[in-house]
This record gives sequence, structure tokens and C-alpha cells, in this order.
Amino acid sequence: MKHFKIGIFAGDGIGPEIMREGCRVLELVGTRNNVNFELVEGAFGAHAYFSEGDCFPEATKAICDSADAILKGPIGLSHEESKKIPVDQQPERGALLPMRRRLNTYANFRPVYLPKSLAHFSPLKPEVIGEGIDMIMVRELVGGLYFGKKEVGVNADGKRYVVEALEYDEDQIRNILVEAFKISQRRKKVLHNIHKSNVLKSSVLWNEIVEEVKVDYPDVEVRHMLVDAAATALCLNPTQFDVMVMENMFGDILSDQGGGILGSLGLMPSACIGPDRAYYEPSHGSAPDIAGQNIANPYSMIGSVAMMLEYSFDMTAEANNIWHALQAVFDDGYSTADLSKPGAGVNMIATNEFGDKVLEKLAAMPVV
Ligand code: NAD
Ligand code: IPM
Ligand code: MN
Repeated sequence: MKHFKIGIFAGDGIGPEIMREGCRVLELVGTRNNVNFELVEGAFGAHAYFSEGDCFPEATKAICDSADAILKGPIGLSHEESKKIPVDQQPERGALLPMRRRLNTYANFRPVYLPKSLAHFSPLKPEVIGEGIDMIMVRELVGGLYFGKKEVGVNADGKRYVVEALEYDEDQIRNILVEAFKISQRRKKVLHNIHKSNVLKSSVLWNEIVEEVKVDYPDVEVRHMLVDAAATALCLNPTQFDVMVMENMFGDILSDQGGGILGSLGLMPSACIGPDRAYYEPSHGSAPDIAGQNIANPYSMIGSVAMMLEYSFDMTAEANNIWHALQAVFDDGYSTADLSKPGAGVNMIATNEFGDKVLEKLAAMPVV
């Protein structure tokens, strides 16, 4: 029997609620496929800071280093609650970025997917959505502004100042571009390179590397777009995009806009892949506004499980079964509160009920 050790970091806010559904799906997948998924829980996030004085405890680091993959829930607190933790120990800076660095998960894949049949979930008009939205954003995850030099102080004029550097070397850029070209080759072979070379030198270097890397992928058409224009294009004409590649901060912002054009961040799973290690997490945050109410959408977490099966465990057929199960629940007219606007004709169900329905659908599908 195959055995995989999976770190389970439930996180803060809605994290534990959606993680529960993700784990139920993993357990069913294990049973159906005769695979032993050993789920090992780790404390990670604000709750770990309050209970253990560290948002990324040593025991959790040890799980990071030994697990075959990690499934992670969102971390972080509301704006006000965050103030209870010193800035550098807040879980975004104190846990998530160090974990990304530790695992070297430089390639972040964020699918933005909405079939035509679910166009009513989107705030965009059906004619804008056309045959459906189906793109993947490829975000560099361990460089740029997030990991560049930082300096905070008081200058000669007595003014508080800050410097935060957007740093990349050519290898970092090449590595993420190669991932984007490879995934483009498996899809529609149109790659949108998102940049800001009219201002940022980092984008000038980035684009130089695009020219170098594209030589190895002559079948992929590269289209260049400035990041500000891309923000508009995502609203006006999202179906032009298949694969988009961009640096860390641009990817953070545009991927949340991706959730916006679908209708909810709850539809945004993701995979964070490095040369040796990988972890999977929803793209969204801990949603403090709805935490503890059993109304969060677990699609993002269950979709992250599907991505884990495909990217880490070579179980693509079962991953596809999960995607189909998720869509089937929507097709039956059900969803959680985020996508059940009045008049939309959607039957609103709770987080755990959504999970129940996904499990039912999956259990009914043949194992390939
Ligand atoms: P958020 O993504 O938590 O929430 C934005 C909006 O989307 C809220 O209205 C929320 O209710 C909704 N939403 C998000 N996920 C949902 C889901 N699964 N189902 C239904 N609705 C959902 O963003 P925020 O409020 O700006 O941030 C809250 C905290 O999360 C902050 O501390 C932030 O730093 C943290 N954060 C963590 C991660 C991560 O762990 N990867 C990602 C983003 C934000
Ligand atoms: C994300 C989040 C993180 C990021 C935060 C919580 C550090 O917004 O995963 O998109 O900015 O990368
Ligand atoms: Mn983000």
C-alpha cells in the first residue's frame, strides 16, 4: 500500500472549518485508491502564537521537513486583532513567508476557473464570460518585494522612512518562467507575460529573460501586458487569458482579482511548488468576518487537495474526479453563502453540507 505523510496546518479563522472538509475528501480518496494518507497536524498561525508563543513552532518546522506534502489553511487575524501580535511575529511574516522560503516553493499556481454554466456566480455579464473563464495565474512566490532588503528608520530630517527592495536574480526569474512556459505548452500555448517595464527595472530584467527562455518554447505565443492594463483586461475580457505569469506582488493582487471575477475567493485553490517540496493552500485569507459560522466555501480547500493529488502524488484521474464532484454540486444548484445571492436561484448550504455533497458525488464515481 502506498503511504504518504501529509502535514495538516489548519490555520486561523475559517481555516479549521474548511480544512475539515479537505481532510474528509483526502480520507475518502485514500480508501478508494488504497493509499495510506497519514495526516499529521501542525500548529501554524496566530493561534500557535497565542498558545505556544510562536506562530511557526519547531515541531511544525519538523513536519515541513519530513512530510511528502502539506495542506495549509489560511492564517492571519483581522486588522484590529493583528495588533495583539508584534509586527515581525504576525503569522504572515512570522510563519507563511518563512515556510515558503524554507520549502523553496517558488512556483505558485492559482487557477481561475468558472464554466459557462456557473456564469451566474460572477459579477461580470454572461456575454463577458462567454464560454467560460479558464486560466491559471503563475505567481513567483519566494522573491521580489516580499523577500527583498528592508530598512526602517529616521532620516537626517527627522522623518520616519522605509525602504523595501524588489529583488530578483536571473535564475529566480528563469525558474518561474520555465514553469509558466511548460504549463502553457500543455494548455492553449498562449502565455501572457505581466510586467511593469515602463517603470520598474526588475521588469526590464524579467522581460529580457522572457526573450531568452521563449527560444526553448517556440510553440508558445508570448503576449506582453502591463500589470495595470491586465487588471482592467481581467474585468473586460477575461477569456483572452490562458496562462499569466508574474512576479510575487503582482500575482498576489491579480489572483485576488481572479477570485473577484469568479464571484468569490472561496473558488480559489492553489499549489505552491518547489524543486523538492510542495504545499497547497487556498489563495484567500482567514476570512475573520465569517469565521466560526460554518458558512465558508470549502471549494478552495478541496480544490487544493485535488491539486495536491495531481502535482505531488501523480493521481491526476482522482484529482479530475474531485473537480467533477465539485462542479456537480454546483450543477445541482447548491452553494455556500458567498455564492448564494438573493434571486440567483441557488440553494444555500453550510460548509459541512457542501463537503457531504462532494463526498457523495466522489463516492459514486468509478476509481480509474
Ligand atoms: P480574506 O481573503 O480573508 O477575505 C476577503 C473576503 O473574502 C471576505 O469577505 C471573506 O469572507 C471572503 N472569503 C474568503 N475566503 C472565503 C471562503 N472560502 N468562503 C467564503 N468567503 C470567503 O482577506 P482579508 O480579510 O483581507 O484577510 C484576512 C486575514 O487573512 C489577514 O490577516 C490576511 O493577512 C490573511 N491572509 C492569509 C492568507 C494565507 O494564509 N495564504 C491569504 C490572504 C490573506
Ligand atoms: C496570499 C496571501 C499572502 C501573500 C499573505 C498572507 C502573506 O495574501 O497567499 O495571497 O501576500 O502572499
Ligand atoms: Mn493574497
